[in-house]
Amino acid sequence: MNRRHLLNSLTGLAMGALVTPEIAQAAGQMAAGSAQGLDWSLAFADLDADAPPTPMQRTSGTCPQGLAGSLYRNGPGRFRRPGGSATHWFDGDGLMRAFRIRGGEASLTARFVDTAKRRADSAAQAVVTPGFGTAPGPGAVIGTNDDVNAANISVLPMGEDLWALWEAGSPTVMSAGDLSTRGVKTLRPDLAHMPFLAHPRAEPDGDIWSLGVLGDRAVVWRLGRDGTLLSAEVIDLPCASYVHDFSATERRLVIVLQPMIQDHPGLPYIDGFAWKPKEPTRILVIDKADLGSRRIYELPAFFAFHFGSAWAERDGTIRFDACVSEDASFATRGARELLKGVWTPAPPPALALITLSPGGQARLERSPVVGEFPRNDPALSGWPRTLTIHATADNGGPLFHGLATHNWRTGQSDAFDFGPAHMVEETVFTPRPGGAGELDGWLLAPSVNLAARATELHVFDARHVADGPLCTWRAPLALPVSLHGAFVAA
Ligand SMILES: [Fe+2]
Repeated sequence: MNRRHLLNSLTGLAMGALVTPEIAQAAGQMAAGSAQGLDWSLAFADLDADAPPTPMQRTSGTCPQGLAGSLYRNGPGRFRRPGGSATHWFDGDGLMRAFRIRGGEASLTARFVDTAKRRADSAAQAVVTPGFGTAPGPGAVIGTNDDVNAANISVLPMGEDLWALWEAGSPTVMSAGDLSTRGVKTLRPDLAHMPFLAHPRAEPDGDIWSLGVLGDRAVVWRLGRDGTLLSAEVIDLPCASYVHDFSATERRLVIVLQPMIQDHPGLPYIDGFAWKPKEPTRILVIDKADLGSRRIYELPAFFAFHFGSAWAERDGTIRFDACVSEDASFATRGARELLKGVWTPAPPPALALITLSPGGQARLERSPVVGEFPRNDPALSGWPRTLTIHATADNGGPLFHGLATHNWRTGQSDAFDFGPAHMVEETVFTPRPGGAGELDGWLLAPSVNLAARATELHVFDARHVADGPLCTWRAPLALPVSLHGAFVAA
């Protein structure tokens, strides 16, 4: 009997000594949530059509003076079709949300990214296009990576445009004004349709770096702040690992290659990978100025989707944070079960600090803090910092019901927990006009309020998270939960 079957077969008090404290806590919280009539599957329900701009109701507090702009968020928004549906959370159609804050009030609009995949699936009235975890259906057209590009993970603001990002195809350009889709971005004709990760690393007032991973090779993309391609260079990787994110210091790229190894490329994409826990997690550090200058560190196997921005200390030591799990089971199984309304309690990801020393040693210090979706003050990306913003408070179902900042110097968390009625999304920071120092500004944290069946937007003082929201707005509808976002100040 494997661990999944073991957990599925256990109920209530009979779980006893066979489960870890985390799982027991999670199961208890899930039971508490269902007792209150909360249905987390609302966060994975379909949005049938674009949502026109709609005022949000301010339900508490007041909007801070000086906060104005647009919070753009991307994430899968439609999964099901009459003739067949996506079978993995990551394969829903990309849905761009815009929370606009003006004059102390907020509105919400959402529009689907007009991708080739969405057009093909709409015509077939079935999800026939394969993806990260969904197999191809009858009549699927797979000419290039962009035929299966869901454009559904993150968003990169680029002047008057937004780039809706996936990870195995091109950016898709949208209008920041009305969220209409302009088309797929070709950065260089001979590199059309190449992968471009959903987690580019922007230097403060500098260039934007991204990767496009193809098995054991990667394109290193370097862009100017206006999206102009400065260079695209192919590098070899020590193994064909699943790469969702990477990190960077001021001078170096830090690429974590976990032992989720591709042994047969194909579709659905993730099924071509195998978890090999006896192999190390390798960390490749490359000089930005000379991509041939590299060093490889090794740690015992761990899995992570997301990393914080890295920094180098005076002696060359590199540090960065990661949200680590024991294995890749959420990618391979958990995110599939979500769409069936099923959740198998599992230990949540933990915040960890990784240290790469000049002598070649690597160390991973796992904190007791539950953490995902790490973000930082963008003015310090690549530079020494002490604070990580993250989602926290595992709710025994999918995702989280709180947010926090973690101080790596003191080990202290500044956290707020909304309780099981909320599924809190990734939190984004924006500086206070005229502010100074790390995280002097506001956190913008959307949530799906399961009790009110509504999407909400909460504003926190980033230096006083535990005090609770300064302001909350509620929309008259619930959008499916999103993945990653970016704020553009007005
Ligand atoms: Fe991500």
